[in-house]
Amino acid sequence: MDSYIADKVGIDRHFLNEVLAADLKQNLLALYAEQHFQAAGIGNNERLTQNKTIRTDKIYWLDRAHNNASENRFFDLMDQFVAFLNASCYTGITHYEFHYALYEKGSFYKKHLDQFKSDTSRAFSMIMYLNTDWKPADGGELCIYHAGEAEQVIAPENGKCVFFKSSELEHEVRVTQEIRMSITGWLKTN
Ligand code: OGA
Ligand code: NI
Repeated sequence: MDSYIADKVGIDRHFLNEVLAADLKQNLLALYAEQHFQAAGIGNNERLTQNKTIRTDKIYWLDRAHNNASENRFFDLMDQFVAFLNASCYTGITHYEFHYALYEKGSFYKKHLDQFKSDTSRAFSMIMYLNTDWKPADGGELCIYHAGEAEQVIAPENGKCVFFKSSELEHEVRVTQEIRMSITGWLKTN
């Protein structure tokens, strides 16, 4: 995550090890096949709306209460990561939320900010990808906009984690030509 300080975007190409990434992907695909995913909305609780002109991905919220071994290993990793961040950077993270996301072919998420106007609890955005053998022709890049600079284009490659401040950087997911899978979430403060 060294690049975070310099560029406002931290990228770790091997944040999830191959075994964990494979297990999470298997869990994601099983849940998707059993139709547990739902169309993602925009906005928060009361004002959640579905707008298929803005985003067309499908999501499933992870939860320790599911008692799923892969989800729990993921949460153990996040607990370690948050403890490290709070100890080394005084970030004051008190909770988090994560969902799986599946973008079918042709799906996208237009330019947006992850923090809501009415709720500033999302401090950091984290996205971890579960796509092996991703090729340039598959599209589906995460594109991050930096003021006065060219946009940063990031391929959604297996195990990679992208990390940035939720209030600061607008970003989008370009149209994907292949099924594109990830875990996306937010580290939150009170
Ligand atoms: C999001 C998001 C980016 C990605 O879910 O808010 O911006 O690369 N995802 O999946
Ligand atoms: Ni986003």
